[in-house]
Amino acid sequence: MSVSSSVTIVEVGPRDGLQNEKLTLSPQIRAELINRLAAAGLTRIEAGSFVSPTAVPQMAHTDQTLALVSKQNLRLAVLVPNLRGLADAIAAGAEEIAVFAAASETFSKRNINCSIEQSLERYAAVVAGARRRGVMARGYVSCVLGCPYEGAVDGAAVANVAGALLEMGCFEVSLGDTIGVGAPLQARRLVERVAAVAPLDKIAVHFHDTYGQALANIFACLEAGVRVVDSSVAGLGGCPFAPGAAGNVATEDVVYMLQRMDIETGVSLDRLLAAGAFACAQLNRAPASRVAQAYAAKRRGPADA
Ligand code: HMG
Ligand code: MG
Repeated sequence: MSVSSSVTIVEVGPRDGLQNEKLTLSPQIRAELINRLAAAGLTRIEAGSFVSPTAVPQMAHTDQTLALVSKQNLRLAVLVPNLRGLADAIAAGAEEIAVFAAASETFSKRNINCSIEQSLERYAAVVAGARRRGVMARGYVSCVLGCPYEGAVDGAAVANVAGALLEMGCFEVSLGDTIGVGAPLQARRLVERVAAVAPLDKIAVHFHDTYGQALANIFACLEAGVRVVDSSVAGLGGCPFAPGAAGNVATEDVVYMLQRMDIETGVSLDRLLAAGAFACAQLNRAPASRVAQAYAAKRRGPADA
């Protein structure tokens, strides 16, 4: 299959990135980051979560973030674990939510304190409630290429959960390599397997970059016909319930790779780099993005000999 001439990026940095940073940013700074990402041309952005603030304090007050974001030309999504989260998200004006299931029982238990089956029952009610209110719902499957607690994960389990999420009304399912252990051929085969139960235009991919395989995995999935890719500005974050997991693949690195292959993303790399620099300054950390590092070195010029 040939690679599509355009790819949609779902920017997850303000949620997946910031949820696992040591410093908690204020709702105002989170909104400012989202506004800068939108100004860079990103049209789908995950803005935060309506989860327990005890479990993930970095995402507390996502309602305040939503209130401060300029929503023009922007699809903002928020993560929701249950009906309470849905009610709070709707009260805050959310127009898109994401529910998050797993392909591994132990991860499901550690992340959301219930079995996969219980989570799917819970999400069926959440997604139905969302749709009744005109709110779109996305579904995640975590641990699609490996689990921090169970190791190998069966592709059939991934396809089952992905199929169930679509069946209950999710418009798209994002396949999450939560701990970033996958490699390209494995990633491609997984997409092919899920494509047996889901149309390719409903499959997104979500790679963490723990072992440096994320860009190669993305390319393998694009070759398999995927057209929606999740990434996080500056490669921020990780997962609080997946020890050792690195952040998502950096959006700058994905945009650079796609631009160099003449694949349209609608994103300005310069503005994106500026948004990443803003996030890193707020977090007092360096970007994980190799492209951001290379551009910074180029700006500094050759060192004085
Ligand atoms: P639980 O303990 O089973 O639920 O947690 P509970 O109903 O007994 O509630 C426990 C406490 O949470 C109570 O507070 C509730 O009020 C509160 P307390 O009485 O103890 O003070 N609570 C809530 N508060 C705010 N908003 C809510 C909410 N619901 C309950 N919606 C629960 C179950 C799911 C709530 C909890 O485990 C939780 O919030 N977990 C956080 C999960 C999370 O955010 N994980 C990270 C995101 S997943 C991820 O990163 C992977 C992904 O990126 C894809 C990939 O990489 O693969 C998506
Ligand atoms: Mg993730």
